[in-house]
This record gives sequence, C-alpha cells and structure tokens, in this order.
Amino acid sequence: MKKIIIAIDGFSSTGKSTVAKQLAKALHYVYIDTGAMYRAVTLFALRENLIGENFLHQEKLEQRLHEIEIRFKRNPEKGFAEVYLNGENVEDEIRTLEVSNYVSPIAAISAVRKILVDQQRQMGKEKGVVMDGRDIGTVVFPEAELKLYMTASAEKRAHRRYEELLERGEEVSYDEVLDNVVMRDQIDSSRKDSPLRKADDAIEIDNSSLTLDEQFEKIIALAEEKIKEENE
Ligand code: DC
Repeated sequence: MKKIIIAIDGFSSTGKSTVAKQLAKALHYVYIDTGAMYRAVTLFALRENLIGENFLHQEKLEQRLHEIEIRFKRNPEKGFAEVYLNGENVEDEIRTLEVSNYVSPIAAISAVRKILVDQQRQMGKEKGVVMDGRDIGTVVFPEAELKLYMTASAEKRAHRRYEELLERGEEVSYDEVLDNVVMRDQIDSSRKDSPLRKADDAIEIDNSSLTLDEQFEKIIALAEEKIKEENE
C-alpha cells in the first residue's frame, strides 16, 4: 500500500494539530508538528537571552544554531510525539504565551528555516506523514499528495487558544491572546521567507462553524480518496 504526504497549513489556532493528530491515528501515519520545532528554537533563544523585549540578537543566534538538537519522541500515553530540545522534554514549555509572543520573529529568520525545513524533509522522505505548519504545502513538500489550508476567524481562534491556556493554568486575558493571534497572523503572512499562503492546489477548510466530528469526516474522506488514487 503506497503512503502519501498530507500537508496542513493555516494561521495559528485553526485546529491544524487536532485534525492532523486524528488523521495520523486513523491512517497509522506519523504526525509532525513543525510549529513545535520553531517554538523549541524560540525557547532556546529566550533561555540564552538571544531574544527578549525589544531585542533580537540574530547573528549570535545564527552562530549557535548548531547547538540546538530537536527531536520528537512518541509518548504512548498521549498517543503522539512530544518535542525534545537537547534531550529535555519541552512539550509544555513551548506552548506558553511567552514563547508564542516571540516565535514569529524567530520563524522569520532564513537560517532557522533552512535547518528546520531540511529536517522536516528528512522526516517525510518515507511518506506516511501528516505535517502541519505554515509552509508545508508551498515549500517543504510542494509535491504532497493532499494539501489542506485551514481557516477560521481570528476571534474564534483566539477563543480556542485562550481556553487551552486557561486549561494549562496560565493566567492570561482573552485580549492578550487575541493580540498575539493577530500579531502572528500579520508577521507569518508578510515575512519575506516562506510567508503563509495557500498553495494553488490546497483545499481550503473553513472550520468556524464545523464541529470536530464534521471536520474529521470531511477530511478523512479526502485523505482516503487520495490514498486510493495513489494505489490504483
Ligand atoms: O503552529 P504554531 O502556532 O505552533 O507555530 C508557531 C509559529 O511558528 C507560528 O507563529 C509561525 C511559525 N511556523 C512557521 O513559520 N512555519 C511552520 N512550518 C510552522 C510554524
């Protein structure tokens, strides 16, 4: 049975990871969260004081990129892979609002993108992967058999992210989260290197008013159809 690559792109909090995890589970594919990789680099930069309020030591960060090792290790209890930065499980720490606030400028650095894109291509070379991010269908795997482009209103997305952060015990306001979502949309879609855009052959899914089940039914049907085509 030939496997395919499923590329899922879209703005933050459009439910990419939820659908990607569901798909990976149903198809027995590997889920790769590329945003987690940019977040891990951001956490490294924050810890090493290479980025902070009103400063970014880009050149110093670029010189130290070789010190960063990012790996995914499957957590059987959770049913998906967690991200490790230099051997340390940072799955929770990379999801804080602090990391979210600094990740877009880090993800705009070409030297960072080059390293991470190479690693992502490596992880997908055997196919059988569901990868989500901003540039998967346009840059990482332009030849992916199925490309999805997820959208939802900024308010809806901020609401989801706000609920998630509250659940994790972070003290944040809805307005702070909305500001972060809008700021990242702006930087992620206007940066020079690999801005977020819908690939011409991507299927757009607006999930503002779809339930999780409705969305999954729609998407798994698309995936099964593609897999069937590939195996004909
Ligand atoms: O999907 P996420 O919100 O965890 O991603 C965090 C940030 O990383 C996002 O604001 C933009 C960046 N990113 C990117 O530039 N390219 C990707 N393939 C994935 C994420």
